[in-house]
Amino acid sequence: MSDERERTSGQDSGQKLAVVIMAAGKGTRLKSRRPKVLHEIGGKPLLMHVIAAASKVVEPGDIYVVIGHEAERVKAAVAAAGVHFVEQAEQRGTGHAIQCARAAIAGYENILVLSGDVPLIRPETIEQLWQFHQAKDAAMTILTAVPENPSGYGRILRRAPGSAEVEAIVEQKALTAEQASVGEINSGIYAFRTAPLLEHLDKLTANNAHGELYVTDMARLLRAAGERVVAIESGDAAEVLGANTIAELVALDATLRAATANRLMAAGVTIFRPETCVIDAGVEVAADTVIEPFVQLLGSTRIGTESLIRSYTVIENCAVGNGVLVRQSCVLTESSVADGAKIGPFAHVRPGCFIGEEAHVGNFVETKKARLGKGAKANHLTYLGDAEVGEKTNIGAGVITCNYDGVNKFPTRIGKGVFVGSDSTLVAPVTVEDGAYIGAGSCITRDVPAGALAVARAHQVTKEGWAAAKRARQETKK
Ligand code: UD1
Ligand code: MG
Repeated sequence: MSDERERTSGQDSGQKLAVVIMAAGKGTRLKSRRPKVLHEIGGKPLLMHVIAAASKVVEPGDIYVVIGHEAERVKAAVAAAGVHFVEQAEQRGTGHAIQCARAAIAGYENILVLSGDVPLIRPETIEQLWQFHQAKDAAMTILTAVPENPSGYGRILRRAPGSAEVEAIVEQKALTAEQASVGEINSGIYAFRTAPLLEHLDKLTANNAHGELYVTDMARLLRAAGERVVAIESGDAAEVLGANTIAELVALDATLRAATANRLMAAGVTIFRPETCVIDAGVEVAADTVIEPFVQLLGSTRIGTESLIRSYTVIENCAVGNGVLVRQSCVLTESSVADGAKIGPFAHVRPGCFIGEEAHVGNFVETKKARLGKGAKANHLTYLGDAEVGEKTNIGAGVITCNYDGVNKFPTRIGKGVFVGSDSTLVAPVTVEDGAYIGAGSCITRDVPAGALAVARAHQVTKEGWAAAKRARQETKK
């Protein structure tokens, strides 16, 4: 096992370590049809955050996710992570979740238990818990915190003030008046030595307010059996908070996004009014780029240096280069924008576009699977779908590529240095070769050779004095 262990302190110490993530619950308090662990913060499901943290401590092959409520949906959502799944068909509590994982964990000396609804946990903190667990040679080690508001969480009863040893965990609903003043909470994250855990696991009873088997009761049971139960307090209470209600979920999202914005600002990105921006955790932006208020940068978006992203723009899964200007209220999705390009305001760059170096996509321009060469311009009121536009080509105002016949999509190819006059329609499939001109208002249905002028519009009829004659006819009718 030791070859692939640079990230697995567990195995470094020669002990076999697994991670169990409890994710089978419905999340009743969210009042949602979506399973709790698939609710998203920072643009990613809660469970994916927990799996990502766990994957930095052990290999995905040593991670067991307990699923139950909407199991297939949860499985499908995180399948790419390469973890194992354990079924908890009926959700009879967190202790029961561990009972369901009995066969999976039996071969490991120790396990770490994480909660699928505690998503901000950092791998470093899981490491600390694991190190402390080993140093104390404990049967159970509980990660705790002292948050501003402990209400709703299980509380830690230490054996004596200042002692590492724990007497019991008491759930909110079972707290005596005296215990309610305890500020130290259970994070729902634990380390267990597997042998004593499995030996005493069946002693759990459902004799409590929820009629469930609580994993938290293992503290008292292991203590009673003479085993050592200890707790280590996390330095940062914010990272162990749970998402049990929508309000808590939204608060965790804000914490995560603030951390992302802070990370980018520390790397030299200017984000004005960062609290108004929605930036997913996986987004990367280079130094000297400026992000204005109310911008959304989503998914795996990458932005280079010295770019300016103006307000109300939403960029999702895009690669944006250096020195790019994206003006106000643009939507860019799954596309690339090369250095020095100018987009917007009010442009819609739909999936599959490549906007070349110093190209312009102006106001009320929509592009889809369009490739604009270096310096190409489509500045006003245009639709370019399934289109190729060569270098330095100018697309006039109101030009439309007619790419769809109601059944199939067809390509439009426009060469380099072409001038497409305003209000022209290009009925695909059609090719306009390099250097050609299209007269304004043309409906182009046939290919245009290089250097040609194509005009396809009705001839203008001008009747001198016609208006005066018409008015005179109207006067005589009165
Ligand atoms: C739990 C702890 C509480 C702690 C808090 C921290 C218990 C009894 N209480 O309470 O002391 O302060 O976490 O966030 O454990 N789950 C299953 N199967 C089940 C029930 C739950 O897999 O049968 C999963 C849930 O999907 C969730 C996690 O276990 O991801 C925790 O369950 P939850 O109901 O949120 O427990 P809390 O009330 O938050
Ligand atoms: Mg919870």
